[in-house]
Amino acid sequence: MTSNSTSNNQTSTEAPAVKRVLTGIKPTGTLHLGNYVGAIRPAIQAIQNSDDEAFFFLADYHGIIGCYDPTIIHESTKAIAATWIACGLDPERVTFYRQSDVPEIPELAWVLNCSCAKGLMNRAHAYKAAVDINMEKEDVDPDQGINMGLFGYPVLMAADILMFNATHVPVGRDQIQHIEMARDIAGTFNHRYKTLFTLPSAVVDDDIPLLTGLDGRKMSKSYGNTIPLFGDTNPQVSAEKQMQKAIMKIVTNSQLPDEPKDPDDSAIFEIYKAFATPEEIADMREQFATGIGWGDAKKALFNKINDEIAPFRERYQELMANPKELEEILQMGAEKARRHSRKQLDKTRRAIGIKPLAKLK
Ligand code: TRP
Repeated sequence: MTSNSTSNNQTSTEAPAVKRVLTGIKPTGTLHLGNYVGAIRPAIQAIQNSDDEAFFFLADYHGIIGCYDPTIIHESTKAIAATWIACGLDPERVTFYRQSDVPEIPELAWVLNCSCAKGLMNRAHAYKAAVDINMEKEDVDPDQGINMGLFGYPVLMAADILMFNATHVPVGRDQIQHIEMARDIAGTFNHRYKTLFTLPSAVVDDDIPLLTGLDGRKMSKSYGNTIPLFGDTNPQVSAEKQMQKAIMKIVTNSQLPDEPKDPDDSAIFEIYKAFATPEEIADMREQFATGIGWGDAKKALFNKINDEIAPFRERYQELMANPKELEEILQMGAEKARRHSRKQLDKTRRAIGIKPLAKLK
C-alpha cells in the first residue's frame, strides 16, 4: 500500500499514537467480482494482518444523495452489510456500523459546514462533472437536478472521518480529492477554534487488480458486464449457477481448442490470476501455450473462483435470511462507534461555544 501524496504533516494536531484506519462503503446495488477483488478482499486482509484500529461503515446517508428509492436503499444496506460479514470481516475486531446509527456524524457535518468555504465545494470533481453535463445542454440551468446533498457530499464525508480522528483512509483514486477536502476543513476548524481534528491521509493501493468484464471492457455495473459476487436471490437459478452462467459469457476469440493462446490477452486468464496461487497461474499459462479450449478455461476459472467464494456465499445467504443477526452486529458497532462520537461531538460543541449555561445540580 502506498500513501498518496497529500502531505503528512500532522505536527499541528494531536495525532493519535495508533494508526486508525477508516473507510465508508456506499450501499447502492449489489456487488460484483471486481468489487470483491478490488475492495472487499484487500480491506479485510489488510485488517487481519495488522494491529491497526479499524472503522468500517455503511454510508447510507451518502447513499440517499443519488437514490430516491427507499426499497433500494434498505435492501442494499442489508445486502452490503451481509456481503462484508460473509467475506470475513470480523465485527469484534473492526468497528462496523451504519452511518445513520451515529447521529453525531450529521450533527458534526453541520458544524463543519460552517468551517468549509463554499468555493471549496464548487471545485469538487463530482459536483463539477454534474454541472458540466448540464452546461452541454441548451437552456438548462447549470445546477439542474443537483441537490444540496451532492454539493455538500465532501462535508459529510469529512465528518465521517474527522469524527473518529482517522489517520488512514483507504479509498479509490476518485476519492482522493474528498480526503484533501477533509484535511482542509479540519485545518480551518483547528486553526479557528481548537486543535481537535487529526488530518487524515488517503491510502490508495496501486497493486490491486482491476478486473476486465464479460465484454472486454473494465468490469463495471454501469457497463452491465459484471460477474455477480453472490447473485440475485432468485428461486429459479441458484446463485452458483448465476456465477457460472456469467463466466460462460466471457467474450473470447474464435481460436480452436488446441491452438496455442495468448494468456495476456485473455480476460479469463486475467481473472484467474486474481484467485489462483503462483503455481496454479504458471500452470494455466502453460495450458494456454499448449492449447486449452475456451470452454475448459472457463470451467477452470469457475472452479477456482467458486472454491474461494462458495463458503462466503453460504454465509451470505444465511445472513440475508436472518437479518436479525445482521442488525445485532450493526447495533454492536454503533454502540462502539458512539463511545467515540459522543465525546468528539461534545468537545466540538464546547470549542465553538455551544455548552450549558450553568451546571444544574
Ligand atoms: N465517498 C465514498 C465512496 O463513494 C464513500 C464514503 C463515504 C467514504 N464516507 C467515507 C469513504 C469516509 C472513506 C471515508 O466510495
